[in-house]
Amino acid sequence: MRAQIIVQRFNPEADGEGGKFLSDYSVDYSRGTTLLSALLKIKAENDGTLTFRSSCRAAICGSCLMQVNGTQKLACKVSLHDEVMRYGHINVGPMANMPVIKDMVVEMAPFWKKVKAITPYVVSTEQTPIDSSTLKNINEQMYNADGCIMCSACLSACTTYQVSDHFLGPAALAKAYRFLVDPRDTTHQERLAFLGQENGIWDCVRCNFCVSVCPKEVAPMEQIVRLRRLSLAAGLDQTVGARHITQFCKVVGQEGRLNETLLPILMMWGHWKKMFHMIPLGIKMFLRGKTPFLFKRPEGYKKVQRLFATLRRHSGNV
Ligand code: SF4
Ligand code: SF4
Ligand code: FES
Repeated sequence: MRAQIIVQRFNPEADGEGGKFLSDYSVDYSRGTTLLSALLKIKAENDGTLTFRSSCRAAICGSCLMQVNGTQKLACKVSLHDEVMRYGHINVGPMANMPVIKDMVVEMAPFWKKVKAITPYVVSTEQTPIDSSTLKNINEQMYNADGCIMCSACLSACTTYQVSDHFLGPAALAKAYRFLVDPRDTTHQERLAFLGQENGIWDCVRCNFCVSVCPKEVAPMEQIVRLRRLSLAAGLDQTVGARHITQFCKVVGQEGRLNETLLPILMMWGHWKKMFHMIPLGIKMFLRGKTPFLFKRPEGYKKVQRLFATLRRHSGNV
């Protein structure tokens, strides 16, 4: 069987747009051929200039991450046969939202900077001996957050990172969760305070892309949700992000609907600079009839109030 592999190339030594071009290769493959083995064959036999990272060839080192038919994937985990069956051909390029150095090799410094920012090691002021049953408990509580291979697929796919490169990002936040549930770490509160700041846990828009591209089922968005819960439980509920959650529930529970006039006021109360920046948006919403009257409740709002009262009784945190 033969497959067509179209590679999006970049040569930094050529001037301007001339450095970007496509290369089209045709390769023989069998059912077990991976994209990485095909690229290594092309490099060895057809085109020595083709540039990409790889090492373990076993989905362990995380270095062969690239964009394959529009999704971030480890080339050593991609079956050529499956891609050809699904798309008819294979489009390959560097992972999205990362500065390209050459062909599929991207600059990883922004990724490492985020990981470094969350203090990715146990910080302990005391020696805490750990027995085997505690160790088992920690493993269960980590929900695979320690399974990350630092491939950067999640950051590359992250919609918040696309618009705000200061966002800590899914991999770093998932790693932060791993240290928060480690009983040897004695900086629980400091870690939560740091993660709750701007560009931290509350900036995730829960698009789920990080979960869908992660090759190791780390599910970063779910770790971020756990971090949010830990943060609220620790009493860190006064940031705009935290108040978005708590006040959202409060407004719907009281008003019987989401009141887009009331919610931003409650969320940003005390954060005057942020509230001031929202004024032009508020005016636009008002002119387009998107701001409900503050004191008018919809018909049947009492039913929603009763529903929330029941939820509150059962969970104690709505
Ligand atoms: S769920 Fe959150 S962290 Fe994950 S990709 Fe979307 S915005 Fe980024
Ligand atoms: S969380 Fe998953 S996708 Fe993100 S860097 Fe780790 S292994 Fe890769
Ligand atoms: S070569 Fe190591 S993960 Fe693909």
